[in-house]
Amino acid sequence: MVDARAIHDAVAAWYARNARVLPWRGIADPYAILVSEIMLQQTQVERVVPKYHAFLDAFPTLQALADAQPAGVIRIWAGMGYNGRAVRLHNLAREVVERYSGELPRTADELRKLPGIGPYTAAAVASFAFGEPVAVLDTNIYRVLSRTVHGVDAPSREAIHPLAESLLPQQDSPITPADWHQALMDIGATLCTSRQPRCMLCPLRPRCAAAPYLQSGGDPALAESSVPYAPRQSRFQGSARYFRGRIVDYLREQPDAGVEEHTLEGVISDAETASGAPCPVSLPDLLAALERDGLIRRDSGRVRLP
Ligand code: ADE
Repeated sequence: MVDARAIHDAVAAWYARNARVLPWRGIADPYAILVSEIMLQQTQVERVVPKYHAFLDAFPTLQALADAQPAGVIRIWAGMGYNGRAVRLHNLAREVVERYSGELPRTADELRKLPGIGPYTAAAVASFAFGEPVAVLDTNIYRVLSRTVHGVDAPSREAIHPLAESLLPQQDSPITPADWHQALMDIGATLCTSRQPRCMLCPLRPRCAAAPYLQSGGDPALAESSVPYAPRQSRFQGSARYFRGRIVDYLREQPDAGVEEHTLEGVISDAETASGAPCPVSLPDLLAALERDGLIRRDSGRVRLP
């Protein structure tokens, strides 16, 4: 039996003392929260923090973002990777201005209907910006709940969803649903990590089904071999996505008018040297994919940011 009350008490007490200070916490602006969540989808917190400030300095409101040129948004995204997110966020701002008079919808169900917002982001924005009691399930929260309740036999993310909903704090709980999710993210990021869980510091340890198997105290042998959830080696370097990223990086540094297409052959060969891997697709294929994603524009032999 999962004792929700005991779990909420332990997590609330821990969070009161250990919450990370992050710029998207304790704020009420749904737009800023949306920006943070899209940035945090695939980029580490430390790398996001300065970019989050730079982005909001450049585009302080949803309207300002909607009014911007795509190239400006793509330029600000430098250093974050997954550049398609910049284009999607920009399109989303335009859609919200056109269809919702610039006001983000307040529920996860409505947010889901917007282009470029998936189930995770919809739930996160509804929870953090509007206090909706919906389950937010990112990788960290999934790992914490899964280990606590199911031990080291991780069920699928879908299978954890009903559990996440049943554990949502209620009106009389010592923690709000929004803080509950932020706290689980902190536990997942700082204690219940995939490779070196620090169970001795975890408020969930007394009720965690996985703790007896994970209490390695950072034992490298355990960390290497038997802990589940260890991410696979990154295959990014040398992938088509890696080369597309190098092209966008290069174009960010160029004037708005862009460059002759053939200039990019040099960019690819420099990237091949840097990564030690040959580009797996042709330059025209890279450019076609970038154009499809709205990251470049091509006309009469020239390539530029849109
Ligand atoms: N990862 C995704 N959303 C986050 C948040 N709001 N705080 C910290 N890490 C996150």
